[in-house]
Amino acid sequence: NRQSHESRGALIVLEGLDRSGKTSQSNKLLSFLEGLGFSVESWRFPDRNTCVGGMISSYLANKSQLDDHTIHLLFSANRWEKRSLMESKLKSGTTLIVDRYSYSGVAFSSAKGLDIEWCKAPEIGLLAPDLVLYLDIPPEKAAERGGYGGERYEQLEFQQKVSQQYHVLRDPTWQIVDARLPMEDVEKQLRELVLECVTACQKGKPLSELWL
Ligand code: TYD
Repeated sequence: NRQSHESRGALIVLEGLDRSGKTSQSNKLLSFLEGLGFSVESWRFPDRNTCVGGMISSYLANKSQLDDHTIHLLFSANRWEKRSLMESKLKSGTTLIVDRYSYSGVAFSSAKGLDIEWCKAPEIGLLAPDLVLYLDIPPEKAAERGGYGGERYEQLEFQQKVSQQYHVLRDPTWQIVDARLPMEDVEKQLRELVLECVTACQKGKPLSELWL
């Protein structure tokens, strides 16, 4: 076990359009880091297992209707309800691989026309990721992969708007990985980036808060 008592885990976030491969890649990263002896967990947002998560899930399945602002705040609340657990995991040395985070929150809601600064506001004070991995895929390519379920946002026209909003949000610290590459190539790139990040956090890189 490579951890010492003082070293903290890394907060690593995967972002991208639906069908960009985030979920498969986060599973692969989890086993990769476990194999190296790191303490690591795989998380995802929305976390559908909480009360708020249940409301989000029913909205996404079109089983309930909510005003755009309301659902935005529920997605944010769903991250806030996990914040203290997130912090204690990281401080006790566990690395978290998180499938979607605040950037999904802002990209999807602002794609509906909500003001981007309004969308960012409720995310202020959540833990800032140590690494954002953006799996970059043109919306048309993602749609060709099929497997869009029947959920609310899984439509090409909407995903095109989300893609534009992700572009607005991007900053130079994001690592952009071409998600059209073969899965193994994507995996290889992600492994390197993640190892570098986990090492930096072990060496004492401080935790910080959104927005940076
Ligand atoms: P997710 O559970 O990752 O999708 P899937 O069921 O395909 O694995 O996310 C569900 C949808 O919710 C997805 O289209 C993105 C959207 N979303 C938001 O609109 N806001 C948010 O804050 C988050 C985390 C996701």
